[in-house]
Amino acid sequence: MKQKDIYILGIESSCDDTAAAVLHNGKILSNVVANQAIHAQYGGVVPELASRAHQQNIVPVVHQALAQANIDKKELSAIAFTRGPGLMGSLLVGTSFSKSLAIGLNIPLIDVDHMQAHILAHFIDEEGFEKPDFPFLAMTISGGHTQIVSVDDYFKMEVIGETLDDAVGEAFDKSGKILGLDYPAGPVIDRLAKQGNPEAFKFSKPKVDGLNFSFSGLKTGILYFIQKEVKNNPNFIEENLEDICASIQFTIINILMDKLKKASKETGIKQIAIGGGVSANSGIRQSLKDAEAIHGWKTFIPKFEYTTDNAGMIAIVGYLKFLAGSFADERITAKARTHF
Ligand code: KG4
Ligand code: ZN
Repeated sequence: MKQKDIYILGIESSCDDTAAAVLHNGKILSNVVANQAIHAQYGGVVPELASRAHQQNIVPVVHQALAQANIDKKELSAIAFTRGPGLMGSLLVGTSFSKSLAIGLNIPLIDVDHMQAHILAHFIDEEGFEKPDFPFLAMTISGGHTQIVSVDDYFKMEVIGETLDDAVGEAFDKSGKILGLDYPAGPVIDRLAKQGNPEAFKFSKPKVDGLNFSFSGLKTGILYFIQKEVKNNPNFIEENLEDICASIQFTIINILMDKLKKASKETGIKQIAIGGGVSANSGIRQSLKDAEAIHGWKTFIPKFEYTTDNAGMIAIVGYLKFLAGSFADERITAKARTHF
């Protein structure tokens, strides 16, 4: 029997990206993201400005997603939106827009947890990308998140480790700020690190129990180290930039890999899936590849556009929930902090 055509409109507005995507039975037809350039001059996301930019962007972004998918809004089966976690002012824009559109079109509304979406992005049908089998471990690493999640099924997952302070992307961005690099510094550090010696400088790794992470101490350690060296040699940063970047990146990757190895050992799970903007990092990708040979892991990295904040990942969760008959009440509200 032919599968019924299900079209989901996904909407994401949890932080500083306004995004909309259309999904047809597990396949992405369009995936539009409007980045907010305004934050770069402040060296980080300014919540008030983010909310205002979402209000300006949401209508054109949704229009573009529908146009690129070449479908009319009347053909939509449901609307999936990010309920949380995220910045309240940002979440409210996507939530209220999605509610009104669903009511106007008289179609179901589906609430999506942003962190689950980063993980379930692996289930988007995409040529050349394999989907993990259950159970697997998911590590979500971005400017806002650092988590290790044990995933037993689409909606049966447990956070087994997370950061107690900064996210790993912040560790990259804040280290970059100390070095005078542009925001976001993660990709810049990655590029410079390729020319440097990762063992030129030693930064101490945090001692955190279990599978949790901490990155604020590393940032302070880097700050003190740089201040001390610059006192002796005002040109220290310029003369050693590549080695400093390589050493910082090496330390961060070791912190992530140590916890992943521990999580794999404790759970006996050898399928590892990563997501979030930091999974673009060439060093972490190489370490995961190496771990396949060393530890017998099978690793999964989604297509880059489904890795950073996007609405394709919201739409796939919407689709899975649609199939499960799990819909939201129209009185649902945004939630800045969520747990699953
Ligand atoms: O997922 P994302 O686009 O947005 C959220 O934070 O949710 O992730 C952005 C983060 C930033 O901190 C950025 O510096 C980092 O991902 N990032 C990288 C790389 N590309 C992006 N960090 C290290 N290496 C990269 N190649
Ligand atoms: Zn995210």
